[in-house]
Amino acid sequence: MTFYPYKNGRLHIEGVSLDELAARVGTPFYCYSASAMETAYTSFVAALGDLPATVCYALKANSNQAVIKTFAQLGAGADVVSEGELRRALAAGVPAKKIVFAGVGKQPSEMATALDAGILQFNVESLPELEALSRVAQEKGSVAPVALRINPDVDALTHAKISTGKAENKFGIDIPSLRGFLASAAELPGVRVEGLAVHIGSQVTDVNPYRTAFERLVALFVELRDAGWPLERLDMGGGLGIAYRDGAAPDITRYAEIVRGAVAGVGCKLIFEPGRFLTGNAGLLVTRTVYVKHGTARRFVIVDAAMNDLIRPTLYDAWHDILPVAQFSPDAAREPYDIVGPICESSDIFAEQRSLPTVAPDDLLAICSSGAYGAVMASSYNSRPPAPEILVRGKDYAVIRPRMDYDALIGQDRLPEWLDDSQ
Ligand code: LLP
Repeated sequence: MTFYPYKNGRLHIEGVSLDELAARVGTPFYCYSASAMETAYTSFVAALGDLPATVCYALKANSNQAVIKTFAQLGAGADVVSEGELRRALAAGVPAKKIVFAGVGKQPSEMATALDAGILQFNVESLPELEALSRVAQEKGSVAPVALRINPDVDALTHAKISTGKAENKFGIDIPSLRGFLASAAELPGVRVEGLAVHIGSQVTDVNPYRTAFERLVALFVELRDAGWPLERLDMGGGLGIAYRDGAAPDITRYAEIVRGAVAGVGCKLIFEPGRFLTGNAGLLVTRTVYVKHGTARRFVIVDAAMNDLIRPTLYDAWHDILPVAQFSPDAAREPYDIVGPICESSDIFAEQRSLPTVAPDDLLAICSSGAYGAVMASSYNSRPPAPEILVRGKDYAVIRPRMDYDALIGQDRLPEWLDDSQ
C-alpha cells in the first residue's frame, strides 16, 4: 500500500495533492500521512502479538503535538529525553504511567518535574545520575522508579554517529559494573530499581545485533532477579530502521521473533521505544526548484529547502529518495543532478549525482522518508524560518505547525539597554 500515489499525473499524500498543500502554505513544507503512522504503529504492535508490551513512542523522532496525539490515541506511551519532551507528551495526553525518561544528562529540575508527573520509569545510565535522582526524590518524600540501562557492547552495524551500544559510547552501564551498581542503588533511599533497559542504536536494519543485545540483557535480568532483586520490567529500546531506498527494510517479524526468543519464559513486562519506524516513512519534505544551474563539472538543482530544514544528508550522508511531483514515465530521460539548498555552505546538499527526469525551475520535488529526525532537527540557520508541517488523513489535512513569520524570528532576540535606541 502506498500513501504517496500519483493521481492525475501529480504526486499526492493520501488523498491530497502536494500542489494543493504547496498553494496553501508555500514551500518548503513537511507533510505527514496519518494513515502511514497508524499503519506502522499497528504493524509494530501486531508483530509483538501477545507479548506484555507497552510501546513508548520515541518523541525525538517527531515531537509535533498532532503526531504524538495520533500515537497516544492508539494507546502508545512515550519515550522522552528532556523536560521539553516530557511536557509535550503530557500535553498531548500521554498518560504519565506510560512515559519513560531516558538520556545521560537528566538534570535535577527535570527529574523533579517527571516525579511530580508520576512517570513509569527513569532509565538511569550512571551512578552520579542515580544519586541525583535519589536526592530529588527524597526531598519530595517519594521513591523514583528506575530501570538501569546497560551497555551491552554490541555493534548495531549502523552509522557511527547513531550507534549507542558499544563500549566506547557514552551510553549505559557496562555489564561487569552492574552488580556493584545495584549494591549502591540499594543504599539510596530515593530510588527503586524495577527493571533493566538497553538501546543499541538507531536505523538498525540488520536485526541480528538485537539478538546478542537482548540475550545479554535477559541473562542479566534473570541472574539478578534470581539473586533477589525485585525486577519487573525490561526496556528493549528502539532503533528498528526503515527502508530509505529499495530493499533495505528490516524485517519486523524477525525482530519480534528475536524478542520472543530472548524473553521466553522470563515472565516480565516489556517496553519498546520505536521512533523512526513509526514516523520515518510517513513524511515528505516538499520543496520547489528555484534555479537549475549548469556548472562546469556538475548540474545543480537549487531548491528552496535547505540543510536547516533537513540535516540528515549533511550530518550522516543519509540517502533520501527524491521524487518529482510531476509523474514521469519509467523510461523518461534522466540526468544526474546535485540537489542543493540555498545555504552558504557546500554541505547544504540533499543528494549528489542523483539521477532524475529533467528538472526545471518551479518544479516541485518531494524528499522522501523525512517524517523522522526531519522537522525536529531543523534550525533557523541563515535566518531561514524552518519549514511548516501539515498532517494529512485521507482527503483532510491540517497545518500542524505554521511557518514562523519574520517578525517572530527576529522577535526572539532582545537588545541590551546600551544598544536599544527605541526608548
Ligand atoms: N530510545 C533511545 C534511548 C534512543 O536514544 C533513541 C534514539 C530511540 C529510542 C529511538 O530510536 P529510533 O527508533 O528512532 O531509531 N538523528 C538521528 C537518529 C538519532 C537517534 C537517537 N536516539 C538520525 O537522523 O538518524
